[in-house]
Amino acid sequence: MAQGGDNWWRDGIFYQIYPRSFQDSDGDGIGDLAGILRRLPYVKSLGVDAIWLSPIFPSPMADFGYDISDYTGIDPLFGTMEDFDALLAAAHDNGLKLILDLVPNHTSSQHPWFVESRSSRDNPKRDWYVWRDPAADGGVPNNWLSEFGGSAWQFDETTGQYYYHAFLAEQPDLNWRNPDVRAAIYDAMRFWLEKGVDGFRVDVIWHLIKDAEFRDNPPNPHYVEGRPPNERILTQYSTDQPEVHDVIAEMRRVTDAYRDRVLIGEIYLPLHRLMAYYGNDLTGAQMPFNFALLSTFWSARSIETIVEDYEEALPKGAWPNWVLGNHDRPRVASRIGPEQARVAAMLLLTLRGTPTLYYGDEIGMHQLAIAPEDVRDPFEKNVPGIGVGRDGCRTPMQWDASPAGGFSGVRPWLPLPEDHIHWNVANLEADSRSILSLYRRLIALRKASPALVAGDYHPIAAQGDLLVYRREAEGTAMIVVLNLGPDPIAVTTSAIRFGSEILLSTFLDREGERLEGVLDLRGNEGVVVMQPHI
Ligand code: NOJ
Repeated sequence: MAQGGDNWWRDGIFYQIYPRSFQDSDGDGIGDLAGILRRLPYVKSLGVDAIWLSPIFPSPMADFGYDISDYTGIDPLFGTMEDFDALLAAAHDNGLKLILDLVPNHTSSQHPWFVESRSSRDNPKRDWYVWRDPAADGGVPNNWLSEFGGSAWQFDETTGQYYYHAFLAEQPDLNWRNPDVRAAIYDAMRFWLEKGVDGFRVDVIWHLIKDAEFRDNPPNPHYVEGRPPNERILTQYSTDQPEVHDVIAEMRRVTDAYRDRVLIGEIYLPLHRLMAYYGNDLTGAQMPFNFALLSTFWSARSIETIVEDYEEALPKGAWPNWVLGNHDRPRVASRIGPEQARVAAMLLLTLRGTPTLYYGDEIGMHQLAIAPEDVRDPFEKNVPGIGVGRDGCRTPMQWDASPAGGFSGVRPWLPLPEDHIHWNVANLEADSRSILSLYRRLIALRKASPALVAGDYHPIAAQGDLLVYRREAEGTAMIVVLNLGPDPIAVTTSAIRFGSEILLSTFLDREGERLEGVLDLRGNEGVVVMQPHI
């Protein structure tokens, strides 16, 4: 498939890099831009088309870069602007797009805007943030909760008001009803677009606008004991307000003023609300992230239902996308087990819609249990012991079997699992049937196949552990047959025509096999079958 042109983000495959954890080049135990540059040949060799970098901007790192103190700089931890320019140029030279993380909902409390805003009630930047008087009893202005535990309101002694923070107190929310805030963030976007970055993944985009009256959120009647405390109330008034779509349309106009850029939205919402983020007449985000696979029950019926519901809900002309892992959610290899991780890879790379891979999933990295003394994630520190910690999916990339996995020469900022001596790039590259080889083969197959990139999706079967669907374009049909369980299945669907050919098995040992009406699937096996021409 061609890489340039209007369709690149539809035809392409995205690869998320968490910069702290990809490659350390300066020996501080933390990944950096020069490290990513060094590993670019590896990224390229996967066959992906675009890299999304989690935040690399100056930050006190209270939330590891999602607390920005300067939108147009590079944090020294990650390198310099020259390092960034070199990475961008090298990415482009290699035919790779580069997507940055835009975090417009909140800044760091150390951002000069907030320092000014909190200095006095009549400071010109006062209204850039969300300030409210105390309630009549002196308490918090309303019942809104922080996603990271406790009230979302922080009292500020200097001026006697509370400010709102949907996340940490070190991450005050910007007031997106203020046009100057919008203009300032759009300027920051243009700074990077002028440099040639290919788009943005916009952090918590559904949070940007809050209820104008700051009404109390209703309780959550479905709260499950043991879940994070913020889930006790719904976010009816604190997120997903109708006016947010005007803001997103404005952002889109900013990116659309440049050629071939993409706007991706981070949105955790039910399907019908998610779809609104494509915007009226598709003037919103081109890719509102679809996180359905991150939390689905791993059964054929649930997955088929998710895919069908999503396909049906898509607005006319909207392009789908799928995500299997990210830096906030447990690793797929642990959620569904290492055997099924291979089947999940086949699912992700054969569905209709742009796939986003999370670094390390292609080598089967699993969720690491983090000892209390190694915890870094502020979410886990604030709400300990109930499994919300995100360190376990952010561990260093495992390049080789050396003590720090080839990631660093010193002790890394997060530990590596002991089994990285097996699950590492060097080892798995040498094994033509490894999960890494499977990812490469799947990516190559997808890219060579118009049916997989752009073809229609037709469900065929979802019974027990068996999931079957067809992708079809330009007179070619691919049948994807997935066994989501450990037991063998003899598949006799009429979709498996006499003479069909196996193009790929997740075990990488059946290519070219001709089928005679029956497909014997092994436990935990998935295959892509090409139907003979009709
Ligand atoms: C979503 C990001 O993905 C997450 O890592 C971060 O903690 C919050 N937004 C706050 O920025």
